[in-house]
Parts: sequence; structure tokens; C-alpha cells
Amino acid sequence: MICLGIEGTAHTCGVGIVDEDANILANELDMYRPEKGGIHPREAANHHSDVVVPLIRKALDAAGVEMKEIDVVCFSQGPGLGPCLRTVATAARALAVSLDRPIIGVNHCISHLEIGVAKTDCTDPVLLYASGGNTQIISFANGRYRIFGETLDIGIGNMFDKLGRELGLGYYAGPKIEKIAQEGSRLLDLPYSVKGMDMAFSGIMTAAVAHRARGESLEDICFSVQETCFAMLTEVTERAMAHIEKGEVLLGGGVVQNKRLRAMVARMTSDRGAEMFVPESRLCIDNGAMIAWTGLLMHNAGVRMTIDDTKVDQRYRTDEVEVSWR
Ligand code: FE2
Repeated sequence: MICLGIEGTAHTCGVGIVDEDANILANELDMYRPEKGGIHPREAANHHSDVVVPLIRKALDAAGVEMKEIDVVCFSQGPGLGPCLRTVATAARALAVSLDRPIIGVNHCISHLEIGVAKTDCTDPVLLYASGGNTQIISFANGRYRIFGETLDIGIGNMFDKLGRELGLGYYAGPKIEKIAQEGSRLLDLPYSVKGMDMAFSGIMTAAVAHRARGESLEDICFSVQETCFAMLTEVTERAMAHIEKGEVLLGGGVVQNKRLRAMVARMTSDRGAEMFVPESRLCIDNGAMIAWTGLLMHNAGVRMTIDDTKVDQRYRTDEVEVSWR
């Protein structure tokens, strides 16, 4: 069984090809990078429509697979930006119909967890998923993937990008903030916003910008933002692990590339006698292979979709998905 997956929830368009043994035969991607400002959904969608067909060809070449050898076509059905989702869904439908193959729409957040389980040694983890648009703590409980904690406003990565713009660091600010934070040492007062099991990030950004206006150094601001936000993520992850009695943490999403976040979660897991797992970086970020693999699991469990079922859902909730493959 060979499965092709197309990812396109936000700035990344990706095409992955996997086989039944979770071998990744290809995982090609192309990221939309705005010249200035944040992601414009329509422009990101235009980018995806330009690159999706070349990416499919590139992935087939890399995998050494003929188009007709594809058994199932999968795509990211949500959550994400509407124009981006519709663009890759259209590509997936066209491919599935022209090849006369089944099509499977995949929940993007769950696919981060499934690829981590397939490609690391964890079996039943709590996923700390921290990316631009998404920030969720997810695990499997009582027959479904459930969200144990999540952002109440914006994804942590989007907050970093917005803060980066306010501080003049440019787009895709996370790695810059990480680097500058290494020179900081003074913990400035920022709103530590854990509400129950959920988190809020936009107030932290507002407070950080106010610190800058008062003349605090960039280094201390970046340091304080990281320490505060990552402590919140680590706290909620730990509480989820305690609540559902799980001993594994899996990291997913672009923000988990951050070494300070990894160190904090690693410290928490070792203090608990638990284990932390991190997939290779190309599988942490948004990619087509995770969509292909999750779609393959769903297909093998008997999930079938008509074209009518492939309508995209910008707010596709992790806990809406009927999980028949576990
Ligand atoms: Fe993602």
C-alpha cells in the first residue's frame, strides 16, 4: 500500500509518500514566506496552487514511484486557513478522481501525533503541539484524541511572529527570539496566563511590547517571553500527564525546534521519571508524510470518504475525529 499525502493548512505546502511500514519514501515541501507582515491566507493559497503539482512530481521522483502506483490520496482537511485548505483539497480531489483511488481527509493536529508514534519509540504519548497557528496538549483517552489544554487566543508561534514584527525582528521571528534570549538574564514581569488547563498568549505580547517602550533590553524581553511561555506549556503538559497517568511526552510543531523549550520539557519529564520523544525536525514541522501516514492508518481501519465528505473545516477539532484505527 502506497499513500500520498498533501499538507496545506498554513504557510507550508507539502507532499509526502509513505508505505505500509511507515517508511517515508518522499517528503517534499515548500514554504510561503511573505515579503513583509504575516501570512495573508489568499497569498499563501496562491503559493500552494503554484507549487502543489511540481511538489507531487518531485515527491514521485524522490520515491521512485509511478503515479499509478499510488493506492490512496490523503490531504489535510483542517484546521487551518480556509483558502489554503481549499486549494490542497482541490488538488487531492483531482488526483484521487483522475487515478480512481480513495481519498481521505486527515485532521492535521492528529497527524502530528501519529507520525511521532510511528517514527519514535513512544507508544501512547501526551503530544505537546506548539506551532504558528496551533497550541494544544493532546492525548488519546476514552476512544478519542482529546485536547487537555490549548491556547484561548493565538498560537504561540503566531505570538512570536507578531512580537518579532513589533520589535523589528522581521517575519518568522521564533529562531531570532531564541538567539537573542540567550543573551538575556533578567526575568521581567509578564502575565503568566494559565487558566485551568488553557493558556493565553496575546497579553504576554502586549506586556512585552510595553516593556520595550519603557526601555528594557531586547535580550531581557526575549528571555522573559520564552521563560514565561515555555513554563506555561510545560506546566499544562505535566498536569495532563499526571491527570491521565501517561509517562511519555511527544513534541510536535515548528516551535518545538526551540532548544530552551526542549530543555524545560526534558527537565520536567526526567523529574517525573517519564520520557520525552522528538521526531526529526522535518517531521516536527508541517509536512505531507504525516498526512499520508495518518490517512493510511485511517484507510486500513476502514475509513472511506466520498467527495462530499472531503469538505474542508477551518476549525476541525481534534476531538471530533472518530478514531477507528487504534
Ligand atoms: Fe502543524
